[in-house]
Amino acid sequence: MRILSIETSCDETAVAIVEARGGTRRPSFQIMGDALYSQANLHAQYGGVYPNLAKREHGKNIIPLTRIALEQAGLAHERAREVKNVPEADWYTSHFDREPGVAEHFMDLISTIKKPKIDAIAVTSGPGLEPALWVGINVAKALAHAWDLPLVPVNHMEGHLFAALLQVVSKNGMSLTLTPPRFPLVGLLVSGGHTELVLAKSWMQYELLGATRDDAAGEAFDKVARILGLPYPGGPAISRLAASIPDGSSRFALPRPMLNSKDLDFSFSGLKTAVLYTVRGQKRLSDKMKAEIANEFENAAVEVLVSKTLRAAEMHDAHMIVVGGGVSANDRLRKKLTSTVKEKLPHTTLHIPRAVLSTDNAIMIAAAAYFRTNAKGGQNTTIRTATNMEALRAEGTMRIANN
Ligand code: KG4
Ligand code: ZN
Repeated sequence: MRILSIETSCDETAVAIVEARGGTRRPSFQIMGDALYSQANLHAQYGGVYPNLAKREHGKNIIPLTRIALEQAGLAHERAREVKNVPEADWYTSHFDREPGVAEHFMDLISTIKKPKIDAIAVTSGPGLEPALWVGINVAKALAHAWDLPLVPVNHMEGHLFAALLQVVSKNGMSLTLTPPRFPLVGLLVSGGHTELVLAKSWMQYELLGATRDDAAGEAFDKVARILGLPYPGGPAISRLAASIPDGSSRFALPRPMLNSKDLDFSFSGLKTAVLYTVRGQKRLSDKMKAEIANEFENAAVEVLVSKTLRAAEMHDAHMIVVGGGVSANDRLRKKLTSTVKEKLPHTTLHIPRAVLSTDNAIMIAAAAYFRTNAKGGQNTTIRTATNMEALRAEGTMRIANN
């Protein structure tokens, strides 16, 4: 089954084409196309994602990225240009009336290439930034309409869980399998918009065990970065600075909010405020102090995340701990989780996504969609080999940048 998947829930516009086979028991995935454009640099000036800018950028880039992904997959077969008589042109124009410019791009795409050999369109339907999500959803709906294909809505956080279980099995990084899940499974989802602990007793059945009561973990990294004058996204910037001094050498002490609370909830806004007061309390904030604050902040956030995740896994006898979302790229979190799980829960396995799959991408959306549709695999098709995921994306990014 070939799936064209779209992700626009935050500040990454991503389109992938994935061939899935093996059914839900032995799924495998071949990445045929993977075009991703990150708007992070554009949002940097605002210190966070600015929803209307995100929407505009998604609108500008999504169709060019779709074309790039189709070309990478060898599925963009040109046909005679018939722009003027796209069937149902009025339908598309009104369908995209809230996404200026997209209807024209869209009609140009479908009138210049033949219907590709694809079996379904998948799209992130939420949670995420509403204006951003709608761009992807509307494009997905229009593609499904134009090519008469089923549309599969995917939960973004479920996508992140799948990302953690995807394993690369080929040298070029384009063939993936899915580690078979062992239930019950505890998922820690940590991104710019979410901090959640979920329990899965089987696929597609989730129970929320705990969540943040205020800021998400990634949001806290982004806000603290802003306080320290670091660029957006804050996570990587804070990590780099924190790593520039030896651990344990920080003069500052920050709180570990809700570390000892009995529930599995989190709170990060107090930690951020504590950073703010610490900064305000200094007559002059030296670079060394900034590094010490970053180091202590990262330690505090990671300690709480690890402690609550372990508690959730213990309480529910989890066989697996699966981590997803942008913050799972954090090196300290990865190391601390790995060592703590090994020491305290030696029979529980820990699954953290590869760095390229930890932030938002469309591959995880295709993988989750395959499970949702529960389709039979096994089609015999030739697959165009691409060098690797990063190279494909770099190509897409360069072409968007040159537009
Ligand atoms: O999942 P994601 O790409 O987008 C959504 O929010 O859905 O996550 C982005 C978040 C940002 O807040 C970013 O600061 C954080 O993930 N992040 C990190 C790191 N890399 C990205 N946080 C901590 N350490 C990192 N290395
Ligand atoms: Zn995400």
